[in-house]
Amino acid sequence: MTALLEVEDLRVAYGKIEAVKGISFSVEAGQVVALIGTNGAGKTTTLRTLSGLIKPTSGKITFDGQSLSSIPAHKVVSLGLAHSPEGRHIFPRLSIEENLQLGAFLRKDKDGIEQDIQKAYDLFPILGERRKQAAGTLSGGEQQMLAMGRALMSRPKLLMLDEPSMGLSPIMMQKIMETIATLKSEGMTILLIEQNAQAALSLADYGYVLEVGTMKLSGTGRDLLVNDDVRKTYLGEE
Ligand SMILES: Nc1ncnc2c1ncn2[C@@H]1O[C@H](COP(=O)(O)OP(=O)(O)OP(=O)(O)O)[C@@H](O)[C@H]1O
Ligand SMILES: [Mg+2]
Repeated sequence: MTALLEVEDLRVAYGKIEAVKGISFSVEAGQVVALIGTNGAGKTTTLRTLSGLIKPTSGKITFDGQSLSSIPAHKVVSLGLAHSPEGRHIFPRLSIEENLQLGAFLRKDKDGIEQDIQKAYDLFPILGERRKQAAGTLSGGEQQMLAMGRALMSRPKLLMLDEPSMGLSPIMMQKIMETIATLKSEGMTILLIEQNAQAALSLADYGYVLEVGTMKLSGTGRDLLVNDDVRKTYLGEE
């Protein structure tokens, strides 16, 4: 069986600076895969490349049996790959509901869109309570929920989350992680980027550790959690 997402020897550069230096990884359908790494490791660059926002220097990306090379970002979404970006990027002046509707911009099935908006409210009740409110007035954690909800509105085959717990209180973060677990139990495939290795690896079927653009380690979430290097670097243990 081939994986839903297969990345082979991917290289990405900003001018002369190579941020991703030949990494390979894969995501099987139904899995949560964590990509962890410290600041500047190349995590966001990798996601943005998968989304078609940055063109790689070389390498192969295969999604759902199709090569993603030279496919523009809006087409990538239509193939079933959704991206909840770092820093959220919601539309602050639009309402919560309008933000969710924008996540479905490629869809024409009005009833299905309505159902999915309702589903987002079931997943994050606070969004439903505030549906008419400008998104910019939401708290950081609530905006993160909205970004996730919006990414889900395209009914993706693969949901990519870039640091969904960034800047959140422990309780909010737990809530986000629980939601990821719920989505997983519903069969969603998720590529999760996190600096919070403990939370990400506890949830993940499989994990990869990225260090300054190269893949240092990989293994099941459980194996990486007990790995000495991971424990020292990411879990602050001696
Ligand atoms: N637009 C850009 N132009 C030039 N260099 C960039 C650009 N974006 C990122 N970089 C560099 O590429 C490297 C990887 O950055 P990236 O944002 O992918 O890291 P990251 O793993 O997501 O880090 P963080 O955990 O801090 O979000 C960094 O050294 C960064 O300075
Ligand atoms: Mg990043």
